[in-house]
Amino acid sequence: MTTMTEAESTESRSETPHEAPTRRPLLEVRGLCVDYITERGNVRACDDITLTLHRGEILGIAGESASGKSTLLAALGRLQRPPAVTSAGSVLLHHEIGSAAVDLAQLSENELAAYRWVDISIVMQSAMACLNPVMRLGSQFTDVIREHMPAVGKGEARERAAELLQMVGIPSHRLDAYPHELSGGMQQRALIALSLACEPQLVLMDEPTTAVDVVMQRQILTQILRLQERLGFAIAFVTHDLSLLLEISDQIAIMYGGKIVEIGTAEQLYRAPRHPYTQGLRQAFPPLSEPVRRLSGIPGSPPDLLNLPRGCAFAPRCPKRIARCDTELPPLLEVPGGKVACHLSTPENPNGAIGATAHTPQEQEGSDGYEVMAAEELAHDVKEGDAA
Ligand SMILES: Nc1ncnc2c1ncn2[C@@H]1O[C@H](COP(=O)(O)OP(=O)(O)O)[C@@H](O)[C@H]1O
Ligand code: SF4
Ligand SMILES: [Mg+2]
Repeated sequence: MTTMTEAESTESRSETPHEAPTRRPLLEVRGLCVDYITERGNVRACDDITLTLHRGEILGIAGESASGKSTLLAALGRLQRPPAVTSAGSVLLHHEIGSAAVDLAQLSENELAAYRWVDISIVMQSAMACLNPVMRLGSQFTDVIREHMPAVGKGEARERAAELLQMVGIPSHRLDAYPHELSGGMQQRALIALSLACEPQLVLMDEPTTAVDVVMQRQILTQILRLQERLGFAIAFVTHDLSLLLEISDQIAIMYGGKIVEIGTAEQLYRAPRHPYTQGLRQAFPPLSEPVRRLSGIPGSPPDLLNLPRGCAFAPRCPKRIARCDTELPPLLEVPGGKVACHLSTPENPNGAIGATAHTPQEQEGSDGYEVMAAEELAHDVKEGDAA
C-alpha cells in the first residue's frame, strides 16, 4: 500500500471535526448505464452518466419523476436490484487516500459487502421500509455496527447507538422503542443516524424528507447539514425540488430522460441555468431567498424511456427548440462552471440558451418561455418551508 503523506493523512476518516471540504475525488462515475430488463424491452434509466463527487461534498441530483434519479443514486452504491443491471461504465470508489480505487460496478455481492455501511450507506424516502418493524432500534444499530466493525464490543456499540440517536435529537432511551412507536419525523431521523453508524464516507439520500411535513423537512435538513459539517462525509442527495438543492449542494446534476442534461456548481445553476429544462425547473422551484411570486411549471410530460425522441429528449416540451433539436442528440459539453447538453449552448457560447428566443406559443404566455400556472398552493408550500 502507498504511504500517505501528512497532508493526505489529515484527510482520512477520523473522529476530528470536519474541516473545509477537500477537492479529492471520492467517487468517479464514468459512462455509467443502468437498464431495467422488462418484457416490453430494456429501459435505459441511466444513460452514459459521468460525474465526480469529491470528499465531503454535497452532490444534488434533481429532475422530475421518472428521470432516473433513484436509479442513479442506487447505482452509485451498487445497490440496484433486478430487473436493474449495470450495463456499462464504472463507479470508482477512492475508499482510502493513496490506495487504488475499486470499481464498484465490477465487484461481486460478497466483495461489495466490505464497502456497504462502512464506506457507503443509504437513506431512503420511507424509513419504515428500511427499519425492521419487529426489532427494537437499539438492536438494529448494534447489529449493523457489530457486523461491519467486529472490533467494537456490544456495550460500546450500544453507547455509540445512543450517541448517534442524540446527534439527531432523539433521546437515548428510545433505543428500546420499536420503529412504529416513533413519529414519522423521528423514524426518518433514526434512519439517518443508522446510516452514520459505521462512519461512512458517502451517504446516499433519496428524497429523505419527502415523507414528512414541511416543518419537519426543515428540521431534518438542518440536522443533516450539521452532521455533515461535523463528520465530513459526502452526500449524494436526490430530490425533485431544485430550490432545496440550490441551498445545500456544492454541485448539482439535472437529469432528464435518464441522462444528465446539465451539471454544474450550485452557484452556476442559481445564477444562470443554461439548459432550458433547468431553466424550467428553476421557474417551478425558485430559491427560498427569492421574493414570493407566481410559479410556472413545465408543460407536457417526461418522455417514455422506451420511446425516446430521435433528437433532444426535451424537444417536445422545449420552448426554444430549433430544427436540429428534433433530429440530433445534443452532446454533454464542457462549459465554464459545468457541462450542458443543448444545441444552443456551446463552449464558445455557453449561455446561448439563456437569451434564446422561444419558438413556441408558450413564450408569449410567461417568462423564460414557460407557461405561468396558477400555482398558489405551491407558492404557499415554498413560503411555509421558508418560515419553518
Ligand atoms: N422496477 C422497475 N422495473 C422497470 N422499470 C423501472 C423500474 N424502476 C424504474 N424503472 C424505470 O426507470 C425510470 C426511472 O425511474 P427512477 O430512477 O425511479 O426515476 P426517479 O427517481 O427520477 O423518479 C422509470 O421511469 C421507469 O421507466
Ligand atoms: S434548444 Fe434544442 S437541444 Fe436545447 S434543450 Fe431545447 S430542444 Fe433540447
Ligand atoms: Mg425516485
